[in-house]
Amino acid sequence: MGKAIAIDGPSASGKSTVSKGVAAVLGFIYVDSGALYRGVTWQAIRKGVDTKDAKAVLETMHSADWDFFVQDGAAVFSIDGDVPVQELREKNVREAVANVASVPEVRKFVVDSLQSLANFGSLVMEGRDIGTVVFPDSPYKFYLDADPEERAMRRYRELVAAGEDEKAHEVMDSLKKRDQIDTTRKADPLTVAPGAQKIDSTSMTLEEVIDLVVGKVRGNV
Ligand code: DC
Repeated sequence: MGKAIAIDGPSASGKSTVSKGVAAVLGFIYVDSGALYRGVTWQAIRKGVDTKDAKAVLETMHSADWDFFVQDGAAVFSIDGDVPVQELREKNVREAVANVASVPEVRKFVVDSLQSLANFGSLVMEGRDIGTVVFPDSPYKFYLDADPEERAMRRYRELVAAGEDEKAHEVMDSLKKRDQIDTTRKADPLTVAPGAQKIDSTSMTLEEVIDLVVGKVRGNV
């Protein structure tokens, strides 16, 4: 059985960049668990169903053909033969995903799928409930956080770099809304997993955070 490194934390805490960096250093497979919740949301939207209608969302999720594979060191999935990547970042998906991710049956489907990825090898998985629900027995759990202003600024720069036309205060508002939904939802809310190491990255460089995680996994720290 391979290792599973869990990296949880709120939106824009730097999880993706850190997880990809750690996966590259260790030669592990990078998994973006949020992409699956976004995939379920995208599939519902392209089938024309209302994402607030949990029953209809579940129907589109279960009737789709999902396939998982590894490409360039990362876990990737196709839905009915299509591999959505950029589509998962679009505004309509971004705005609906927190609600879709609060549906317990959606979470069960995604958690089962994430656990089955361990068959591909050792993983670095980023998300909200990886250390609490997906791989609770992993000895390598991290909770990455940063001040809300710093997170909003990082997300804003990302969006601007991606050509999105957003206002900084709107990014801050939407981040707060997402934090609120993620931490207060009934099903698997975002919390620090028992045994997880908390890392506040507000004034750390990316390299420092990656070194900390890699050092811990290698048993150097
Ligand atoms: O990390 P992200 O922004 O791609 O996550 C998208 C949404 O999915 C976000 O609202 C939180 C939710 N999510 C979750 O509930 N559990 C995870 N393991 C990952 C993401």
